[in-house]
Amino acid sequence: MTPFYDPLRSFEDNYANGPFGAFAEPGVAAVAPPAERFLGRPVHRAFGIPAGPLVNAAFCAAAFRHGYDVNVYKTVRTRSHPSHPFPNTLRVHVGGDLSLETARGALLADADFRGTASISNSFGVPSRDPDEWQPDMAAAVAAAGDGQLLVGSFQGTHPAPGAADRVSAYVADHVAAASLVVETGAPVLEMNLSCPNEGTADLLCFDTAAVVRIAGAIKEKVGDVPLLLKLAYFADDSALAALVHATAGIVDGYAAINTIPARLVDAAGRPALPGPGREVAGVCGDAIRWAGLEMVRRLARLRDDAGAGFAIVGVGGVMEASHHLAMRAAGADAVMSATGAMFRPGLGAEVRAARGA
Ligand SMILES: Cc1cc2nc3c(=O)[nH]c(=O)nc-3n(C[C@H](O)[C@H](O)[C@H](O)COP(=O)(O)O)c2cc1C
Repeated sequence: MTPFYDPLRSFEDNYANGPFGAFAEPGVAAVAPPAERFLGRPVHRAFGIPAGPLVNAAFCAAAFRHGYDVNVYKTVRTRSHPSHPFPNTLRVHVGGDLSLETARGALLADADFRGTASISNSFGVPSRDPDEWQPDMAAAVAAAGDGQLLVGSFQGTHPAPGAADRVSAYVADHVAAASLVVETGAPVLEMNLSCPNEGTADLLCFDTAAVVRIAGAIKEKVGDVPLLLKLAYFADDSALAALVHATAGIVDGYAAINTIPARLVDAAGRPALPGPGREVAGVCGDAIRWAGLEMVRRLARLRDDAGAGFAIVGVGGVMEASHHLAMRAAGADAVMSATGAMFRPGLGAEVRAARGA
């Protein structure tokens, strides 16, 4: 089966010619009126595809047509930014769960996608210029039908080395990105704090003070538009608690997780991806489900303990409808699947069926 985002093609080829496979077909029949709510909005099912594989409006529209009701437009920036060279996505050979200890070693990665369970992604968070992505994101917003929701994902870009007041400029760039997304009509924002492929060892989500400053500045600007924070896996429970305590009064929810970083090698033990800074890439799919589930449980416990009302979006290793149900049972208000949906595009319809739609 051809995935709707085809890892055997470059990012630009996918962008220009996709989606592929089943997503190039007309879609599934409409369902009964929306039966669930997410962030106060009616949705058929609080299930969809997270930031990444839906690279533009054509992909988002296909996802909406194929039974995915809450979908995220791939992360954008305030200025154009190229993709890492091809390949960006490889099959990663992991037997069972990818523990943090295993991830510290080397994992075999290649282009053999047969029976795919886990993959890597190494894109460098490419973006078109806002002049191009704003009208396209507006088209993706318009493609959402009744009971469907488009989420706009964005992130900030570091100012050039040596620029004056780099911290303030970095904060301002996040605010500008969020404002540009709001201008498209996107009803929900998601700030990506968790991409490991930017050449920095530390992810923004591990810097609570910076997240508080940035999220506060964004909310001041965008007002009532709900803001989700996309988190990495937190090994340190007290760090997660500190982040949630500091931000739960500012933001509307958390999406977790992104990927687990690991060093990828080919059969000869050489780096599997070409170019400097790409030795480590994010692993997603079946092998990280334990981490996504665990983060959802921990976020739900923090929510209960604080008597808070924030939303939780469960992401990571959702490959079939039963995994989605497990995420919901763990406390997720919405669930998303990237790898599973890419290789099993009928998953949206399966989830609707499993939830009685
Ligand atoms: C092809 C691809 C591209 C991705 N790009 C982004 C991105 O731009 N922004 C982001 O926040 N996450 C990105 N991700 C991470 C996913 O949103 C998700 O967190 C991760 O893949 C784990 O979910 P999964 O196990 O269902 O794949 C990407 C994932 C894939 C597979």
